[in-house]
Amino acid sequence: NTPESHILVIFGASGDLTKRKLIPAICKLHNGKRLPEKFAILGASRTEMTDEEFRESVTDFLPKDDDQCKCDEFLEKLYYQPLGTADADEYGKLKDRLEELKEKLDIPGNYIFYLSTPPKLYGVIPANLASVGLNQQEDGYTRLIVEKPFGNNLETAQKLNKELLNYFDEKQIYRIDHYLGKETVQNMLVARFSNGIFEPIWNRNFIERVEISSAESLGVEGRGGYYDQSGAMRDMVQNHLLQLVGMVGMEPPVVAEADAIRNETLKVFQSLRPLEPEEIRSNVIRGQYMESRIKNEQVKGYRGEKGVDPESRTETFLAMKFYIDNWRWAGVPFYLRTGKKLPTRVTEVVIKFRPTPHHLFQEDGVTAHVTNQLIIRIQPDEGILLKFGLKEPGAGFRVQPVNMDFHYSDLSDVELPTAYERLLLDCMMGDQTLYLRGDAVEAAWRFVQPILNAWEENPSLPIYGYPAGSWGPQEADDLIEGEDTWRYPC
Ligand code: BG6
Repeated sequence: NTPESHILVIFGASGDLTKRKLIPAICKLHNGKRLPEKFAILGASRTEMTDEEFRESVTDFLPKDDDQCKCDEFLEKLYYQPLGTADADEYGKLKDRLEELKEKLDIPGNYIFYLSTPPKLYGVIPANLASVGLNQQEDGYTRLIVEKPFGNNLETAQKLNKELLNYFDEKQIYRIDHYLGKETVQNMLVARFSNGIFEPIWNRNFIERVEISSAESLGVEGRGGYYDQSGAMRDMVQNHLLQLVGMVGMEPPVVAEADAIRNETLKVFQSLRPLEPEEIRSNVIRGQYMESRIKNEQVKGYRGEKGVDPESRTETFLAMKFYIDNWRWAGVPFYLRTGKKLPTRVTEVVIKFRPTPHHLFQEDGVTAHVTNQLIIRIQPDEGILLKFGLKEPGAGFRVQPVNMDFHYSDLSDVELPTAYERLLLDCMMGDQTLYLRGDAVEAAWRFVQPILNAWEENPSLPIYGYPAGSWGPQEADDLIEGEDTWRYPC
């Protein structure tokens, strides 16, 4: 089952995302015979380059372990068109080039336009495409992939949606969130809705709390200029982490189809209880990494990074607590945590179940019970872990916590596709399930916007320093009710 023949146009073809993510992913698809025989990529950006120079510019980024012949064959499918993307007058050139390639390669008028440019062009390119009639095709389809960030706040996201919808239909628009392309994120739907054992207990009666952590050991890595205008809330929470909340929280869709699934995600976002201004101080903890020593090496603080304001108040860490006001989740706290320069790179969802109503077993006079947890490891050690109690062998009834642990890496014959492979292939097949719908993006912004506003309007809301290489500010631990803390994966 391969997609129809088409031409994929990448705007921003000389940029980092194209080289590091898109080209390797498409090459993998090609080498794995997932692409149609007749297929071309047309790179477009301001840089003057020939087809040959474009091919050379991406050669080093092709998958190293794949068959060299297949990679060479793939390179032949790459073409390049220099283009002042912001300038409507230039689009005639693009149209002519597409016509020429269509004829030469015998490809029908199926076009995918991938916006991998600076975000300020996301509204401009669709208008320019429309100005030469490239938004609709008589002899094929036209699809538009929009990279993140989708807006910088609620207002700009709404504006961008309007701009896109002026020229393209919602069915043609593919808003990307690469987290939805991750195998383990999709697996949450399968784990929940293909098993009889999870769904009956997947609710407030059995679940005490839900914890989602996405830790990164890297810092801003040369992206200081971008990150300083963004921060963890915009960079990770509004999109990636809320998408995970949608997957954990959604009701069973009626069918496994794009709109049925996306309707359920939207309902979760619509049920997020807005944080009141007076709750923001206690329920949303911001942090920023400070200079420290990690493994005998002096590490810069965030404010010392290139492109970052030396007095920056941008958060590189964020932990928050909130509720989903609906029948399933009423009263269950959800905790999110993300940060740069933490001790390790790991993303996981922890479902913590309620304890037994009565503790039967005692150890040295103390009641013994086990905290049942289901840990969905999104990355890097993709898998799923269930923690429960069993009897310690020998006299008495001592309870011992044990693990049932599945690692994808144990399936030796399975290579997990990267997020971009999956998402690009889906778009080529016309499947929008793992792409964001405009209403859901706006609903996610609607939830985070009051928090961003409060930070901007109230400089007395603290941003805590934390040493690079630590798990963030102590205040994040205090978010969790009772004696408990976050799960600290190693
Ligand atoms: C990107 C953010 O969207 O996601 C980065 O801009 C972040 O700052 C990255 O590092 C995390 O993605 P992943 O797939 O490595 O978890």
